[in-house]
Amino acid sequence: MSAEMEYFTLSDGSRLPKIGFGTYRTAGEEGVRAIRAAIEAGYRFFDTASLYETERPLAQAVRESGVPRESFIIETKLWTDEMGAGTARAALERSLRRLGTEYVDLYLIHWPRQTGAWDEDWKALDLETWREMEKMQREGKIRRLGLSNFLPHHLENILAHAEIRPVVDQLELHPGYSQEAAVAFCRAHGVLPMAWSPLAHGDRKSDVSAVLSHLAEKYGRSEQQIALRFLLEKDILPIPKAMSGAHIRANLQVFDFSLTPEEVSQISCMPQTAWRGEHPDFAIPQKKSNPQNV
Ligand SMILES: NC(=O)c1ccc[n+]([C@@H]2O[C@H](COP(=O)([O-])OP(=O)(O)OC[C@H]3O[C@@H](n4cnc5c(N)ncnc54)[C@H](OP(=O)(O)O)[C@@H]3O)[C@@H](O)[C@H]2O)c1
Repeated sequence: MSAEMEYFTLSDGSRLPKIGFGTYRTAGEEGVRAIRAAIEAGYRFFDTASLYETERPLAQAVRESGVPRESFIIETKLWTDEMGAGTARAALERSLRRLGTEYVDLYLIHWPRQTGAWDEDWKALDLETWREMEKMQREGKIRRLGLSNFLPHHLENILAHAEIRPVVDQLELHPGYSQEAAVAFCRAHGVLPMAWSPLAHGDRKSDVSAVLSHLAEKYGRSEQQIALRFLLEKDILPIPKAMSGAHIRANLQVFDFSLTPEEVSQISCMPQTAWRGEHPDFAIPQKKSNPQNV
């Protein structure tokens, strides 16, 4: 790393590296190689999920790195078909087994709703799941609890009843999809917003790209580095995924320059045209966790 890693302080006083490494679509041997390259480059915070089937590759890369387990922040998530008290407990046990660890540093509910948009039971199911997660945290299997794709109304339900508060909320956030209302709500309630697909999967819509490309030229960086710096300027934690060694390293080279408030505003005010198309209330991804992945 050419620039020192920086850290966010969470509401419980603990710290998280300001950049994590996403592992969606890093399965298999190629995935292990990419994660190992990420560890060598200096990443210590890794995001996975039972759905991704990358918990085992992550465990293998961590084991082979020789870096002590306690130096890592391992974050995983339970999928929609793993929500509920007993099911959430079994899901965490499976994740711990696949990760080869006694505890996870962060455990998240992946999606706020299990079924369709007009499902009336989502609030009760979210709370039942959360209470079980609280119990598992007290038992020492989880260090901190968090959420993913929870919009203000989903978060409110948890915050109104939680004994242990969520420290992070992982949302789709990148230039061209800033979700200002959700981010402001997180901020007001001491929840750190984390950006999934911070590079919009690596591709750009032309209107957003014009601004990014102008700034990339000004600062001698890539559009992707400008996108990551934009999130950091807004105190949002990005978790870029990359298979290429050059991308893995480049995504850490974002602590030695900054954007002006005017430039941040210019990106924030671009049309919100880069949304990936899965709304937490209306698009319930029709994915199922793999029953063979135990
Ligand atoms: N909570 C959720 O519901 C949710 C949903 C989606 C994702 N996530 C998490 O967020 C992570 C990141 O999101 P993502 O994987 O969707 O997409 P992303 O990180 O926005 O983009 C990844 C793509 O960008 C390319 N890339 C990476 N660095 C680059 C660079 N410096 N220059 C040019 N291209 C670059 C990668 O190429 P190469 O691979 O070829 O290097 C890959 O094609 C996931 O891995 C997952 O952990 C969470």
